[in-house]
Amino acid sequence: MRILGIETSCDETAAAVVADGTTVLSSVVSSQVDLHAAFGGVVPELASRAHVELLGPVVAQALVEAGTDGDGVGAVAATVGPGLVGSLLVGISAAKAMALVWGVPFVGVNHLEGHLYAAFLEEPDLEPPLVVLLVSGAHTMLVAMEGHGRYRLLGTTLDDAAGEAFDKVARFLGLGYPGGPVIDRLALEGDKDAIAFPRGLRNEGYDFSFSGLKTAVVTYARKHPEVPVADLAASFQEAVVDVLVTKARRAAAEVGATGLVLGGGVAANSALRERALDACIADGLRPFLPSRSMCTDNAAMVAAAAWWRLAADGPTPLDAGADPELPLPLV
Ligand code: KG4
Ligand code: ZN
Repeated sequence: MRILGIETSCDETAAAVVADGTTVLSSVVSSQVDLHAAFGGVVPELASRAHVELLGPVVAQALVEAGTDGDGVGAVAATVGPGLVGSLLVGISAAKAMALVWGVPFVGVNHLEGHLYAAFLEEPDLEPPLVVLLVSGAHTMLVAMEGHGRYRLLGTTLDDAAGEAFDKVARFLGLGYPGGPVIDRLALEGDKDAIAFPRGLRNEGYDFSFSGLKTAVVTYARKHPEVPVADLAASFQEAVVDVLVTKARRAAAEVGATGLVLGGGVAANSALRERALDACIADGLRPFLPSRSMCTDNAAMVAAAAWWRLAADGPTPLDAGADPELPLPLV
């Protein structure tokens, strides 16, 4: 079955066609980054308006690239939360309208579950129990996946999300928005051991804290204006990656996971991917690192998650709305 997925929860307008939850026939992402860059972050009202303008052409392109039209689509899925309410509503309304016109089910998808299912697109034989490290601009979660749709939250951030820390540090260093990809690139030229930044909660439980690290970078940069920005970027990134990988390894050992899954925009980070891979090899875990384009927001992950949700729960009622605070459904 082919599912048309739609993602408009933040600043990417995306549509994709995925067959049987695993085969990506098309995945189109139109980023609004340039629109929001001047403001140093996403402006919700601008994002919703841009989604309205972009969604039609993006969906049309996804259908054309998949070599299909409405007749070849078995269900239409859209992210229903968490995210910006005005942005979510654009995707949800369009998805419901298409489902109604084509006479196929509508499936509401949790954005976080979408990030988690990005791994299944490239590794269809992925088998729970797994530990998932979900790290995006808005979330940092360590999750034990016990089965499809069965999640246990091990830990979350007490303050900033990992991606938010990248964005805030980059903004302070005058590197622009979004900060993650810039710091990732710059860190390649820097010394990751130049500055020993604090690793909040590294050896305690599974919760995370990144605001102390952010403040430490700012304070250090002000006191040492001579320090190369690349060294600051590399040392900051190293502190984040060290904490993320240390906790993920510990969690995998404790829950007896067979594999470690990375998801969310920060999972596109080169250092995190490298360290997670090394850790998996050392600990005998299967690594599941979706390609970079599947880590950041896209609609193929939405269509993949929808396939499993449709099989488990059936269609979503058409009167279901957007939920900006929608949590990951936990057991
Ligand atoms: O998952 P995502 O595309 O959107 C949300 O659901 O939040 O994640 C966006 C976040 C941003 O904070 C961005 O700076 C970060 O992911 N990010 C990265 C990288 N690429 C994107 N962080 C570190 N390294 C990267 N290469
Ligand atoms: Zn996301």
